[in-house]
Amino acid sequence: MRYILALDAGTTSVRAIIFDHDGQIRAIAQKEIRQIFPQPSWVEHDPQEIWLTQIAVAMEALDRAHIGPRDVVGAGIANQRETSIVWDRETGNPVYNAIVWQDRRTAGMCDELRAAGHDGTIQKLTGLILDPYFSATKIAWILDNVPDARTQAEAGKLICGTVETWLIWKLTSGKVHVTDVSNASRTMLFNLHTGAWDKDLLKLFRIPESMLPEVRSSSEVYGAINAVPGLAHIVVAGAAGDQQAALFGQLCVQPGLAKNTYGTGCFLLQNIGAKPVASKQRLLTTAAWKIGEKQEFALEGGVFIGGAIVQWLRDGLQLVRSAQEADMLAASVPDSGGVVLVPAFTGLGAPHWDPYARGLIIGLTRDTRAAHIARAALEGVAFQVADLIDAMHADTGKPFTELRVDGGASRSEPMMQFQADLLGVPVVRPAVVETTALGAAYFAGLAVGFWQNTASIAAHWQVKRVFEPRMPRARATELRGCWNEALGRAKNWEP
Ligand code: G3P
Repeated sequence: MRYILALDAGTTSVRAIIFDHDGQIRAIAQKEIRQIFPQPSWVEHDPQEIWLTQIAVAMEALDRAHIGPRDVVGAGIANQRETSIVWDRETGNPVYNAIVWQDRRTAGMCDELRAAGHDGTIQKLTGLILDPYFSATKIAWILDNVPDARTQAEAGKLICGTVETWLIWKLTSGKVHVTDVSNASRTMLFNLHTGAWDKDLLKLFRIPESMLPEVRSSSEVYGAINAVPGLAHIVVAGAAGDQQAALFGQLCVQPGLAKNTYGTGCFLLQNIGAKPVASKQRLLTTAAWKIGEKQEFALEGGVFIGGAIVQWLRDGLQLVRSAQEADMLAASVPDSGGVVLVPAFTGLGAPHWDPYARGLIIGLTRDTRAAHIARAALEGVAFQVADLIDAMHADTGKPFTELRVDGGASRSEPMMQFQADLLGVPVVRPAVVETTALGAAYFAGLAVGFWQNTASIAAHWQVKRVFEPRMPRARATELRGCWNEALGRAKNWEP
C-alpha cells in the first residue's frame, strides 16, 4: 500500500494526516501552536515553532500508520493563508515573528491607502478588499519596524512568504522558494488577471520583488524533502491555501458548488470557474487552484472568529475544558436566553470589513448562566456565516439549497443544527471533515499520478450527517434581527 502525507498548517494547530488511495484517513497527528498576543489586536506565531511542530506531527503520523517515508508517494501542504514571514536568505532565521492573518496592527496603513484612493485599483487587480487581513501591509510593517530590515531586503538578503512557502523552503533546506497561485492571491501583491506579481502593487506597498517566491501551480513537484531524515526523499507535490484546499477536498470542482469550513475562522467559498468575476457585495475573488494549465477561481467570504470562539471559552474564559464540553454546556439550554455574542475579537471580515469592530456580549440578565454564554458563542459563529451566505446569494443571484460544511468545529452538533435553523436549508456534513488536508493530499496525489484525475476521486465524497432546519422561519428572522442590532453596536469600537 502507498500513501499521501498531508501537512495542514492551521492557525490554531498543525496536523499531519496520512491518506490512502480511497481518500480515507490512516493516521493523524496534531498539536496546537502558541498564539502570541504582544498587544491588543496583534497576533503572532513563532515560525520556528510552526516548522518544528509540523515535522514532529508528520513523523508521529508516519509512526502511527506504521509506515516509513518510502511508503509515501508525495506530500501536500495546506496552510493558514496571508500569515507572513520574512527571513534571511542565508541563515534561514526569521527577522520577526510570523504576523498572523488575524492581526490588525496595519489598520492605519490601510486607512491611509484608502484615503489616497487606492482601494478601487487594489480590488480590481487582486480581487481583495483593502484590509489588514492580507499579507502586503504585514510584510511592509516588518520592513518598516525591524531595525535594518528594509536595507537588508533591498540588498536582496531577505526573502518572504506565507506559511507553505516557509515550510517548503525549510523542508528542502532552502533550495526551493515557491508559493502556489491560491496563496499568492491572498498577498494583495498578485495580479489575478495576469497571474503574476504586480509591479505597481509592489511599488505601492514598498516591497522589493526579489523577496517574493516564485508562483507555481497547486499541483506539481516542487522538490524533495532533504532536511529531515525521517521524511527524506518524499516529494512535496501540492500546496494550496487551506480554504481553497478544503473547496477541492469537498470536490467543489464545478462552478456553483460551495462549502463552508469551520476552522479557526469560517470561510465560505464558491467555485466560479475559469474567470475571476468581481464581487458587488464586498466578497473576495480569489484563485481557487491551478492544476496543469487550468486555473480556476472562487468567490469567498470569511469571518475571522469561528472555531476560535471555543478556544476562547476554554482558554480565555476558562468556562470549559474542551470543545465537547462547550457543546454539552450549550446544548444544556434550549436557547441563549436572549444573549447575543458578536465574536468580532479581531474586527469583522466579509461583508462588513471593519478592523475596528470588537467583540460584544449583550442581553445579559440576572438569569444568564454560563450555558447561555456558551450557546450565544456558538450561535455567533452561525449568525456570521448566515450573513456570508446572504451576501453570496446577492452576488450570484442563486440561492443556496444546502450548505456543505467541514473543519474541526463542524463537529459541533448544536452549532450545525442552529446553522440549518437560521438558513432554512439542510447543512450537509461529509464523512471526512478534514477536507483541508484531503484537498492538499489530492493536489499532491494528482501531481504524482497516485490519482489520475478529479473524476477518479469524486466517488470518495460521502455524506455522513444532514442537519435539517427545524426552527419556524419567523423565529429565525426574529433572531437575525437581534443579531443585526448587536452587530451594529460592535462596529467601529473606539474606546
Ligand atoms: O485566511 C485565513 C485562513 O486560511 C485560516 O484558516 O483553518 O486556520 O481557520 P484556519
